[in-house]
Amino acid sequence: MSLPFVKIAGTGSYLPQRVVSNDDLALGLDTSDEWIYSHTGIRERRIAADNESPLDMAFAASRLALQQAGMEPEELGMIMLSTCTGDYNYLPSSACLLQHRLQAKNAAAFDLLAACSGFVYALDLAGAWILAHQKPVLVVASEMLSRITDWQSRETCILFGDGAAAALLLPSAEEGLVYSCLGADGEKGHLLALGGGCKEPASREPRSPSYVEMQGRALFSVAVRAIEQTIVKILQENQLSLEQIDHIIPHQANLRILEAVAKRLQIPTARLLSNIDKTANTSSASIPILLDELNRTGKLKKNDLLLSVAFGGGLTYGGNLIRWLKD
Ligand code: UT7
Repeated sequence: MSLPFVKIAGTGSYLPQRVVSNDDLALGLDTSDEWIYSHTGIRERRIAADNESPLDMAFAASRLALQQAGMEPEELGMIMLSTCTGDYNYLPSSACLLQHRLQAKNAAAFDLLAACSGFVYALDLAGAWILAHQKPVLVVASEMLSRITDWQSRETCILFGDGAAAALLLPSAEEGLVYSCLGADGEKGHLLALGGGCKEPASREPRSPSYVEMQGRALFSVAVRAIEQTIVKILQENQLSLEQIDHIIPHQANLRILEAVAKRLQIPTARLLSNIDKTANTSSASIPILLDELNRTGKLKKNDLLLSVAFGGGLTYGGNLIRWLKD
């Protein structure tokens, strides 16, 4: 019998062990804990060990999500993996590497690139795929921004951290994935970019290193607008008020972005949940890491209404409305 809805049945996350504080960064850079904390809300970030890869992080998070849902990898119909930092540049995809590592032999697998919005994009796609195929989907976000960060650039390197998280989605009799809205604005793609692609032919000459390049100030105001407008749209389309949302889970880019959004929405900043002080910006992994933290610390009650909201490179933006149906 085909089930009419989709729900989240398990989550998992993984953060590397190594903690790098603002003071650690200030040892080799012209910056300070005071500047970083007051401009971003970040105190520390996790940075992967040299022998860890994004796939290792994705695998650890996926195992936990599967375990929590009580599912075996062979039961998966699809793996969708969001990342800007695949183990390989393009081929093979990280999702296929994960499919092999998990021994999820019945799963199709592909990578999804929507930068920091990758998880909210993937949830929407997973929802549609599950309704069509009635099989479980593993949505994973694994990001090792430390590998594409210029550690000499104080404008960017202070912002990012490494981490991964996963969510296991199933066909359901009750409505868990209620609504998603996604958007993009390619005209502003230059605000956050990573070179080294295929617009030039391959060469035997070594290329200059490609680090993520960001126009921070311009992104900041775009981000505030995108997050505010996405929240308002989700509420309007579902005839809800902010008071009816139990947990707002925004992408963790900068606490000041959340403060500005809260001011526009006339709500306390604390309504926009944040763990950025400890994780920094883990790109598309930031929402599912926070979701897993809330789940594992017992903050989510059955039937709670969750709203996720993200913006990121591309530019991309979007959000999901989720009814929490786990006991
Ligand atoms: O998910 C990824 C998307 N990325 C983002 O969402 C980033 C959004 N933007 C931001 O979070 C903020 O714009 C930053 C945190 C990147 C920068 O904060 P800001 O308040 O916009 O600073 P600013 O770039 O306007 O720089 C102010 C000053 C400059 O010095 P002068 O020119 O005023 O003398 C910078 O050189 O702060 C200086 N500065 C720093 N000083 C100490 C920039 N970075 C640092 C630093 N430590 N790490």
